[in-house]
Amino acid sequence: MVNLTINGKQVAVEKDATIYDAAKACGIKIPILCHDKKLHPFGGCRMCLVEVEQMKGRLIPACTTPVTEGMIVQTTTDEIVKARKLVLELLLLKHPIDCPVCDAAGDCDLQNLTYEYKVNMNRFVDEKFNHEIDYENPLIERDMNRCIHCGKCARICDEIVSYGAYTFINRGIEAKMGTEFDGPLNCEFCGSCVSVCPVGALNSRPFKFKARWWALQKTKSVCSYCGTGCQLTLGSKDGKVLTTIYDENQGFHNGQLCTRGRFGYQFVNSDKRLTTPLVRKNGKLQEATWEEALAEVTSRLSAGKSDPASVAALATPRLTNEELFLLEKVFRGTIGTDNIDHSAGFAHEALTKGAVASFGVAASPSEIADIQKSNLLLVVKSDAYETHPVIGFEINLGVKRKGVAIRIVSDKKGKLTRLPGAKTTVHTPGSEVALFNALCKSVIDQGLVAEGVAGLDALKAAVADATAEKAGVTAEEIAAVAKDYATAEKALIILPIGLGYPGHNAALASAAANLAILTGKIGKEGSGLLIMGEKNNSQGAVDMGIYPKGTGLAASAIIDGCANGNVKTLFVAGENPVVSYPNRKKVEKALENVEFMVVADLFLTETAALADVVLPACSFAEKNGTFTSLGRRVQNVRKAIPAVGLAKTDFEILNALSQALGGARYNNQGEVFTEIAATVPAYKGLSQAGLKDEGAVYPVAVAAKLVPVQAKTAAPAAGKLAMVTGSALYHCGTMSRFGEGPMYVCPDAYAELNVADASALKIAEGDQVTVTSATGAVQVAAKVGKRVPQGVVFSPYHFGEGSVNTITDGAEVTYVTVAKK
Ligand code: SF4
Ligand code: SF4
Ligand code: SF4
Ligand code: FES
Repeated sequence: MVNLTINGKQVAVEKDATIYDAAKACGIKIPILCHDKKLHPFGGCRMCLVEVEQMKGRLIPACTTPVTEGMIVQTTTDEIVKARKLVLELLLLKHPIDCPVCDAAGDCDLQNLTYEYKVNMNRFVDEKFNHEIDYENPLIERDMNRCIHCGKCARICDEIVSYGAYTFINRGIEAKMGTEFDGPLNCEFCGSCVSVCPVGALNSRPFKFKARWWALQKTKSVCSYCGTGCQLTLGSKDGKVLTTIYDENQGFHNGQLCTRGRFGYQFVNSDKRLTTPLVRKNGKLQEATWEEALAEVTSRLSAGKSDPASVAALATPRLTNEELFLLEKVFRGTIGTDNIDHSAGFAHEALTKGAVASFGVAASPSEIADIQKSNLLLVVKSDAYETHPVIGFEINLGVKRKGVAIRIVSDKKGKLTRLPGAKTTVHTPGSEVALFNALCKSVIDQGLVAEGVAGLDALKAAVADATAEKAGVTAEEIAAVAKDYATAEKALIILPIGLGYPGHNAALASAAANLAILTGKIGKEGSGLLIMGEKNNSQGAVDMGIYPKGTGLAASAIIDGCANGNVKTLFVAGENPVVSYPNRKKVEKALENVEFMVVADLFLTETAALADVVLPACSFAEKNGTFTSLGRRVQNVRKAIPAVGLAKTDFEILNALSQALGGARYNNQGEVFTEIAATVPAYKGLSQAGLKDEGAVYPVAVAAKLVPVQAKTAAPAAGKLAMVTGSALYHCGTMSRFGEGPMYVCPDAYAELNVADASALKIAEGDQVTVTSATGAVQVAAKVGKRVPQGVVFSPYHFGEGSVNTITDGAEVTYVTVAKK
C-alpha cells in the first residue's frame, strides 16, 4: 500500500492507483472528462488537474499520475479552479451551445462542469465546427460538432468491444473523431461508445426526444436476453421503458452491455404486445376476459389430474426463478405430470446430465470471474462471443490486458479468432465430442495426465481409437492444443449451449469435463468448465427442475405425444417451439393436433397463433423476481413499469391456476423465493433482500469424475454442404425479433457460405438462395465470406420467415444443397 495526503486527508491505496483513484477512494471528487475506470488512462482533456507539493510549479493530471509514498496533493486551490475554467472555456470555444435541443442535456459532463465552475462567459472567440451530422443509421446519431476529443468512444470500441470502429482523423484544429474513410458507422451497434461519450456527440436515436435524463425513473434490474446476466438500469417514464442507463459501477461488467441489452429493450413497449386474453371460438382467437380464459384453462388442467400423463408443459428459461418454481409445483406437484421441459431439451442436457455425471452438480463448476483469472481459455465454438457478447468482452480483456492465452475449437471462425495470439482449430461440424476425445488421448499419449486421476483406465480404453482425423483436423493441431492446455497452470473451458446447438449436449459436457479432470484443471480459480446457458435464466430453469424426471417426456417426446394423441393438454409458457424447435413442419402439425393448448406469452407468436387460449404475459420490466445467470449468480429483477394492458405476470397466472387446482396460494413472489431457499439445496440461506444489487453466487461442491463418452460420427453426404445452426450476435432466441435495435442490424435469416463454395455455386453476397435438406427447403439471402470453412453453411435460427428449423431435424449437422433461386 502507498500512503499519501489529499486535501489534508491521510489515504492508503494500492501501489498501482492513480491520484484520481486515491481521491475517489476517500470521497474527494476530481472532475474528469476523458477518464473512464474501464479504459486505459488517456490524459487528454486536462480537467483533472491537481497540485502535488513535491512537483510544485506545474499542475498534474490526476487521472494519469500514479501515487507515490508521501505525496501531498491539493485538488481545489484557486490556481486549479482557474486552470479548469480555462479548459472549459477552450472546450466551449468550438462547441455549439445547443443544450436546449441536445439529447444529452442533464446527462452531459461538459454542461454539468460548466455550471459547477460557473463558466458564464468566454474570453475567447472562434468559429464553431461545421461537421455534417451522421443520421445514417437508426441507432446511433453522431454530431461531431459537439465532440470534445476525449477519445473514450475509440478507446472503448478498441479496448473492450475489440471492434475498432473509430479513429481520430486530421490533426490540430481540424481533428475529428471519425470512422475509417470518414464514412457512416457500420459496426456491432453495441452502444458502448454512446454510453461513455461525456457530451451529446454520440446519441442513442431510439431515445432521442423521448425524455430528459432527470425525468426518467431509474430501476436497477437484469438483462432478459442471454445467460451472461448483465445488470442494467432501465430508464422509464409514463409506464414505458425509454432507455437503458449506463452505470460504470454496475455488475461484473462495469455497466457494459451488448446491442441486445442496450438497444433491444423496445420489445417491452412494442405495439405488438398482447394486451388481453384470447380464447378460440368458432375456430378463431377472440378477445376474452381473464375469468373466462382462466376458467377454460382450469377446467382442462383439472380434467388432466386424473390422467397426468396426458398433460405437458413447456416453459421458456426467460421466466423468473419464482415463476419456474411455481410452474414446476403446479404441473409436477398438483397435476402430477413429469412431462416438463424447456428449450427443446437441448439447452439444458449439458447441465442436467453431463455436468451431473462429471461433477455431481447440475451447474458449472466455474464462474464468469474465472475468465480473467485464467492462463488459458479453451473456447468451444467461436460463437461464445456471439451467444454471450459481454462474456466476449471479458475474454477480450483477459487476452489483451492480462495476457490470457486463447485456443478455439470450432466449426467456423469468428471474432474471437482474431484476438492477439488466438489459435483456432477448425473441425468438421458435429465432431466436438470426437475432438475432445482426441485431445484426451493426446494428453495421455504425451504423458501430461495430472497425478492421482481416478478412472484413467476406462477413459484410456474409451479414447483408444480417437483420432484427430475423426474431427477433421491434423494430429499436430490436436497435439499442440492438448499440450498448451495441459501445461497451462490454470485453464478454463468455455462451452456455450442452447437451442441452436443440438450437439452441445450431455456427451459434449462430459467429454470437455474429461479433459479438464485429466489435466487437473478442476477445483481451482481460473480453471474448470463454464457451461454457458443460452437464455437469461437457463441456469435457474435447471435449478428449479424444469426438465423431465423419471418417466417424464422431454420436449421432443412431448411434441411427438401431441402428434400421436398421447399428450392432450399442453401448457406453453413463453416458449415458441414452432420457430425455435427443429423440424418446424412436424412441430406445427403436432401443435395443431393437440386437443388443447394454452400459451402465455408477450406476443402472438407463431406458436400462440395455434393455441386454444392465449394469456397475455408481462415482460421482465413489469415484474419482480430473480434470474440465475451462468456461473450461478442469483440476481434481483425489479419492476420498472406497470403491466402493459391487461397482461399478468407468469407468477400471477400460475398462482391463480395453482389455487383453482387445489394447490398452494402465495401472496407475492417473495414468498415463493423463501420457499425456494428452503427447498432447493443450492439456494439455501439466500434471501431476496440479501441479494441486494450485486446478487449472490451460490456455492457448489464438485465431485469430479471421468465419464468416458463415445463420439457419434455423422456420415458426410456426397455433394452436399454441412449446415450448422446457431446464434447471430444481434439476436437471442426469438424474442429479440420484437426489439427494434436487433432488427435494424440483423432483420432477416441468412445462409453464410465460404467464398469458394459460393463461387462454385455462382452465388454472390445478397443473392436469394434455396437451402434444401431431407426435411424441407427455405429461401434466404446469402452471406459470403471466409468465416465458415469450405463445405459448411451456417444459418441463425431466430427467424420466423426463412426459418432454418424448417430444414433441420435435431441432428448435430444437417446436410443441404444450396442453389441460387
Ligand atoms: S456501437 Fe459498439 S461497435 Fe459500434 S462504434 Fe460504438 S462501441 Fe464500437
Ligand atoms: S464522440 Fe464523444 S466519446 Fe468520442 S471523442 Fe468525441 S466526445 Fe469523446
Ligand atoms: S444479451 Fe447478454 S451479453 Fe448482452 S447485455 Fe444482455 S445479458 Fe449482457
Ligand atoms: S480526465 Fe484526466 S486528463 Fe482527462
